[in-house]
Amino acid sequence: MTAGSLLPMDQSTDTNAAIWKSEEAVQNWTATADERERKRAAHWRFMGELLPFGEQDAFTFLDLGAGTGAAAAGILSLYPRSTAILTDFSPQMMDEGQREMERFAGRFQYVEFDMLTGDWPAAIPATVDAIVTSMCIHHMPDQRKQGLFAEILARLAPGGWYFNYDPVTTTDPVVEATWERVNDHDDPEAASKRLHRTPQEQSRYQNHVRYMIPLEQQLGYLRSAGFHGIDVYWKQLENVIYGGCRPA
Ligand SMILES: C[S@@+](CC[C@H](N)C(=O)[O-])C[C@H]1O[C@@H](n2cnc3c(N)ncnc32)[C@H](O)[C@@H]1O
Repeated sequence: MTAGSLLPMDQSTDTNAAIWKSEEAVQNWTATADERERKRAAHWRFMGELLPFGEQDAFTFLDLGAGTGAAAAGILSLYPRSTAILTDFSPQMMDEGQREMERFAGRFQYVEFDMLTGDWPAAIPATVDAIVTSMCIHHMPDQRKQGLFAEILARLAPGGWYFNYDPVTTTDPVVEATWERVNDHDDPEAASKRLHRTPQEQSRYQNHVRYMIPLEQQLGYLRSAGFHGIDVYWKQLENVIYGGCRPA
């Protein structure tokens, strides 16, 4: 889904918490999981491969805004001796995640954490070996994106890596039209879905794009936070994996 030029710019009506803490959103998320995860499985594998660990290394990583745990599951599968701490602010998403992550029992734990606050719960260790986020940084206002990146850097062990898988916007209408054309080719019903959203779908869409920003701006935030090795390690249309490490 691309963020069109008719973005709702009124940020005073932030529906993010109401949406993600509703049974309706969680049901929608789980109902569409199979199709989504078919596309994302290769991305999780690649994100895991970006981490500088050997297959048998024991390490702890954080998945912030983990939802039902898709990114963490990919990394836990790739590294059988790793353990994960998954955080989210939605009890509904975490309940669903507990069920979906059952096969990793003993290797993961959920911790409730609202990333809008800089109040990291004590259950999150002071330092971890790696941190990932997926499809949630775009729900943070820009000031909070910057604060969170600094907090993530501070939580990483020296040499530890952070990767974020997320959609971005573009300011170039030609690029935006290209993203839309290719996405529509992939999903022949996409154009019709865009034109005929139910009120709930429209509300979820507005929440999806509310704080979505261009890639360069986000890389700038990583630089300002003090990350090294910053790059866009993967990109397909509006979806990217970027990241960097804490200097060793
Ligand atoms: C689009 S889902 C992505 C879930 C998961 N990371 C994935 O890629 O499958 C967005 C997730 O971010 C969480 N989220 C949104 N705002 C948050 C906040 N302020 N603090 C913590 N989690 C948040 C939602 O509850 C939801 O689980």
